[in-house]
Amino acid sequence: MKYELIPLSQLDEDGMKQLAGLHHSVIHTLLSDLGVPMVLRYYQIARLVSDVIGFYAITPSGEILGWAMGSPHPDRINSRLQTPFVWFMIQMFRLLFTRPLVLWQLISSVLSALAQEDIRSNSIELTYIGVVLNQRSKGLGKKLLNAFIEASREKGYRSVILSVEIDNKPAIALYEKSGFRVIKTYSEGRYQRHRMELTFK
Ligand SMILES: CC(C)(COP(=O)(O)OP(=O)(O)OC[C@H]1O[C@@H](n2cnc3c(N)ncnc32)[C@H](O)[C@@H]1OP(=O)(O)O)[C@@H](O)C(=O)NCCC(=O)NCCS
Repeated sequence: MKYELIPLSQLDEDGMKQLAGLHHSVIHTLLSDLGVPMVLRYYQIARLVSDVIGFYAITPSGEILGWAMGSPHPDRINSRLQTPFVWFMIQMFRLLFTRPLVLWQLISSVLSALAQEDIRSNSIELTYIGVVLNQRSKGLGKKLLNAFIEASREKGYRSVILSVEIDNKPAIALYEKSGFRVIKTYSEGRYQRHRMELTFK
């Protein structure tokens, strides 16, 4: 299938809605558990943050097939999810009554993230990468990851870091084949994750 890779900063509002739906359907972590409105808000924020590096793959007919994005300060995007405050509180109340376990997971993730102390200077974190189900194993994930790695290298970062669930075999295969190595394994709430790093020579 024909597609081109475009910087995330060029995604319009309709594209962001499509991307939020894709993220929600292919990535099963806490952000998706919080619901599509929260995922959409995440990308609305990320698209405007100047140090975010991201790309999406789009067909000539406008279908988004995949994306990869990251930031040297992912926590800053997460903390901005709390604005507008009234909107955020409505989302939290909705969770409290519909999915209280997800709210508990959110609290325990924030607490375990506070306990993590491996923030490296001059590194950028790959926060999300995904490919639509019917286009997997055709090299698109690798192209998106390479675009992210090359853009990070050009910006002067010394390494790319990421976290991945220990049972996510396709993602771990993709990362290892691109030169990432596991630097530690840890728990965050109910998730068991590897921390992986690719250091530039
Ligand atoms: C991880 C993911 C992005 C890979 O995308 P993809 O387009 O299928 O990957 P590619 O076709 O580019 O494959 C890249 C390499 O990984 C390997 N790989 C991909 N899927 C694999 C699988 N299921 N098992 C073993 N190896 C696999 C490929 O063999 C390939 O290696 P090669 O270049 O030596 O042939 C895709 O599986 C996905 O979207 N998963 C759900 C979202 C997710 O888990 N994201 C990561 C956490 S945020």
